[in-house]
Amino acid sequence: MKLIKTDHAYRVHIETFGCQMNEYDTELVRSLLTSRGFLFTEDREAADVILMNTCAVREHAHNRVYGHLADLKTIKRQRHLVVGVLGCMAQNLKEELAESEPIVDVLVGPDAYRRLPDLLADAIEAQEQGTARKGIAVDLSEYETYDDILPERTEGVNAWIAIMRGCDNFCTFCVVPYTRGRERSRDPHGILREAEHLASRGHKQVTLLGQNVNSYRFEDWDFARLIIAVAEVPGIERVRFTSPHPKDFPPALLEAVAGHPKVCKHIHLPLQAGNDRILDLMGRTYTRKEYLALVDDIRGRIPDIALTTDIICGFCSETDEEFRDTYRLVQDVGYHAAFIFKYSERKNTIAARKFPDDVPEAVKSDRVARLVELQRATSLTKNQAMVGRTVSVLVEGDAKKSSDQWMGKADNHIAVIWSKAGSRARVGDLVPIAVTHASVTALFGNEQPSGSSIDAGAD
Ligand code: 5AD
Ligand code: SF4
Repeated sequence: MKLIKTDHAYRVHIETFGCQMNEYDTELVRSLLTSRGFLFTEDREAADVILMNTCAVREHAHNRVYGHLADLKTIKRQRHLVVGVLGCMAQNLKEELAESEPIVDVLVGPDAYRRLPDLLADAIEAQEQGTARKGIAVDLSEYETYDDILPERTEGVNAWIAIMRGCDNFCTFCVVPYTRGRERSRDPHGILREAEHLASRGHKQVTLLGQNVNSYRFEDWDFARLIIAVAEVPGIERVRFTSPHPKDFPPALLEAVAGHPKVCKHIHLPLQAGNDRILDLMGRTYTRKEYLALVDDIRGRIPDIALTTDIICGFCSETDEEFRDTYRLVQDVGYHAAFIFKYSERKNTIAARKFPDDVPEAVKSDRVARLVELQRATSLTKNQAMVGRTVSVLVEGDAKKSSDQWMGKADNHIAVIWSKAGSRARVGDLVPIAVTHASVTALFGNEQPSGSSIDAGAD
């Protein structure tokens, strides 16, 4: 069977797994392929090429990719189809994927996307000739930042800008330094040009991305200087950033967040664990006391800040008492929200090589459940404290449950839902909403006339 062609352009369907950096990389890939004449389709059935941009950070995402590959096997038995695995799994599992998954034609790691168009063209040509050619590009680079490529964005209020790539921290549980390589920052002028372009396309919010976003450094630019420069771009109303590491919060950065009205009052501050022995085993480079001192410093300077976090339960050799230290810390800090994970051993990491994954699955699950319960109660209390206030909300679109309601985000990143009846709002507007009630995950309220006075963001 011949490949389906539209004016000789091949149709590509791409699915993205994992973090925002992967979403951003998918936009880069779209741009690279479009400029070489490929078309994109939402319809998997109509695609000549199916790409999966993968994540290797936790087992769950990894298993989902294997599930999808099994589905594609069936399609590939029936017709020509080129299958590509991109991103972190391609990088980390190159031998395994190339050998044990014969349906994968192309494997491209996060630093090699520029080679993707040629590798796809080769694989397509081989298939048309009735043969198969595997294309593999998984070299890591010390320099690649894709600085000259303008990602092809999907519409939306928010746009991501990757300002740095890679990570040099080598937290012992984490696969990122192996899949995404060494830390490197982009030239700030390219970043600012990208922000200006986004503003001209109507994006009101920019989220600066990096595996270690606050370690950004380019000549005499640090992250504090960059975030202010982006916030000053005309048309950009809000700037967010993710994910920072607690080790890189100089006073200038806290002042930038505190002092600039367009820098959102929300910091995602990954904790991972609240016990010093576990933090040391994880290679996190801070102690419980230092982390708490940072939280105090942040809250002292920015009283209305919302803090969120990531936590791993059941890391190698974690005892019940050590887990209780994490639990107590989470209780004491009172996060607005937390992402709570079971430790999953990742191939090639320091922990996989050095420490046995010895906390039983049931114990990990129990610890996750206890923390989730605590966090839900805290999130509800924090959200309820917003009732009675008027918050400024950036309108993102229809609420998930009903197109009669708007959904947007408060400055502190909490979702806000309100009725469209009588609303004058449009997507991308900043509107005042008087909060009337709250749930664990959202605030609900009424739209106020524009110009109404706004109360502080968080509790
Ligand atoms: N197991 C469980 N969670 C992990 N994370 C990273 N690696 C692992 C792992 N091996 C979590 C961390 C990180 C978030 C993005 O994913 O909490 O902050
Ligand atoms: Fe992974 Fe640690 Fe780097 Fe974050 S800082 S990407 S957890 S190694």
